[in-house]
Amino acid sequence: MCGIVGYVGFRAAADILLDGLEQLEYRGYDSAGIAVKCEDEIKVYKAVGKLKNLREELKLHIKEFQNSTMGIGHTRWATHGAPTVLNAHPHTCNCGSLALIHNGIIENYKELKTQLEKEGCIFRSQTDTEVAAHFIAKKYAQTHDLTEAVRLASKEFEGAYALCVMHNDYKNTIVATKRNAPMVVGEGEGEYFIASDVPAIIKYTKKAMYLSDNQVATITPNSIKLINADGSDAVQKFELLPWEPVALSKMGYKHFMLKEIHEQPDVIRNNLTGKLKTASDPVVLDEVKLTKENLKDLNRIQIIACGTSLHAAMVGKYLIETFCGIAVDVEASSEYIYRKTVTDKHTLVIGVSQSGETADTLTAIKQAKAKGSHILIITNRPDSAMAREADSLVAVNAGIEVSVAATKSYTAQLMAFYLLAIYMAEVKGTTDTSILQSLKNELMLLPQKVEQVLANTDEIQKCARNYSGTKDFIYVARGINLPTALEGALKLKEISYINATGYAAGELKHGPIAMLDETMPVLSILMKGTVYDKLLSNSEEARARNARMIALTNSNDPKLEELFDCIIRVPDVQEFLSPIIAVIPLQLIAYYIAEFLGKDVDQPRNLAKSVTVE
Ligand code: M6R
Repeated sequence: MCGIVGYVGFRAAADILLDGLEQLEYRGYDSAGIAVKCEDEIKVYKAVGKLKNLREELKLHIKEFQNSTMGIGHTRWATHGAPTVLNAHPHTCNCGSLALIHNGIIENYKELKTQLEKEGCIFRSQTDTEVAAHFIAKKYAQTHDLTEAVRLASKEFEGAYALCVMHNDYKNTIVATKRNAPMVVGEGEGEYFIASDVPAIIKYTKKAMYLSDNQVATITPNSIKLINADGSDAVQKFELLPWEPVALSKMGYKHFMLKEIHEQPDVIRNNLTGKLKTASDPVVLDEVKLTKENLKDLNRIQIIACGTSLHAAMVGKYLIETFCGIAVDVEASSEYIYRKTVTDKHTLVIGVSQSGETADTLTAIKQAKAKGSHILIITNRPDSAMAREADSLVAVNAGIEVSVAATKSYTAQLMAFYLLAIYMAEVKGTTDTSILQSLKNELMLLPQKVEQVLANTDEIQKCARNYSGTKDFIYVARGINLPTALEGALKLKEISYINATGYAAGELKHGPIAMLDETMPVLSILMKGTVYDKLLSNSEEARARNARMIALTNSNDPKLEELFDCIIRVPDVQEFLSPIIAVIPLQLIAYYIAEFLGKDVDQPRNLAKSVTVE
């Protein structure tokens, strides 16, 4: 989604802003712009499309801003108004003396706009952001104090936002504030950095502070003043960020997605470290802050998430219900927040999110928290807004994920669910020890098995090449691998734009089978176990309709040779752990098809890495 960078110090501001925006590119955007304080005026430059277009625009004006040491920069992912230069940020007030960038949505912007228009403001864009610029300028005209203007204006804004503002009357001051949207301030020697996410600033400083909702920060090269919404002084909590700039390198891979797929064996190892020592030791999950008595009393769990995280949640439901005997509901956060949910202090609510910033999931967990439920968050970002809402925080240690298509974070979320399900089963005594021990044994062998999949991609690449011309793609599975089918389809559609759908194989005959003919690829996730035979007969039904059949399997069943045109084999693994082994080839098929089609693999069109609007 949108990205924010601000700088005040002694270096060339435009360079820092562009560099920071580049580090946020992975989040997805469709226009970009910067505002820099020049001699006696603020200059604004914008361009539609990628940052290289903004760089070209800036080259034409370099003399105007080369000495500037203060500015704000933004990448915009269009919500209100098309991706045009006029709608791109920064936005200014009518006289051009105030410039502002904004992430999020000012929900009451229409009312504020009507009021401002009556007072004579001329609007040039279709954005809610321009409303914020005019509104803060109005408060500035009344107070002649930029901090106060931002503080008073934000009190009247509804919705979620992160804002950075500069004014011509201030030679070297940026004012920033936020509500329900991330914002971090980095401190250097004689300089400060502001950003919507850490990668934008980590190259320059590790000393940083996350702003809390409604705080207003006034930043100059040598000072920061932090106040609360009521104007009182707020406590500044700078900390050292546990981040390395090298994390954002492709390390020789063509795309971040491929690099991240290949990181999965290590991600699994990292998630086992300290939690699972040997198969006979109980799982250690100190992160779960529910007492053993509370856990024993639990009779209901709700898991809320979006996209790939929702698929991880579905596997989680399967595991928890099987091993712990607790009823689990899984729901898309965007649905959860718009109905009357039955949640109370006896329900454990689990939020799953790679970014920890997804607006729908954040709102959902806040709603559940307000009803008294214990909130357990599974996230890759222990520094995120969701993490701050957590009663129990399970960080999944996947390392920063740059590619918009989630891969290693999915595997990491699955690991969190395996550990959580075993941990709860051990506390509650709901599953035979021998079953849990065999599961733990195999969990420890998983990294090598994933390595084997990653070392043998010839058949996967061949399959990707053969099917790259298709317009549609069907994935079928049953049981614990239904979410794998959904995830495989999601991966393919988001990076190749092929119309891919995952189905419960038993549902084929209730409708989707009508679509099958000799043009339709059907990929069956045929992992040995309880539903293998059932899925095999569903695959036969599809073959009988002449579909182009692909098997993803750990079986050596000779029948498969007759039934399938292409067979992708994976190492043997017990059924409960098969979602991890099976998803890797599906990630790779999606990757190779998109790469073969020449798509923008890491930044697919219309998508954003973290979706901070509802
Ligand atoms: O950060 P989150 O896990 O909350 O994000 C949820 C979805 O937006 C995300 O999984 C999305 O579906 C990915 N692009 C999938 O690859």
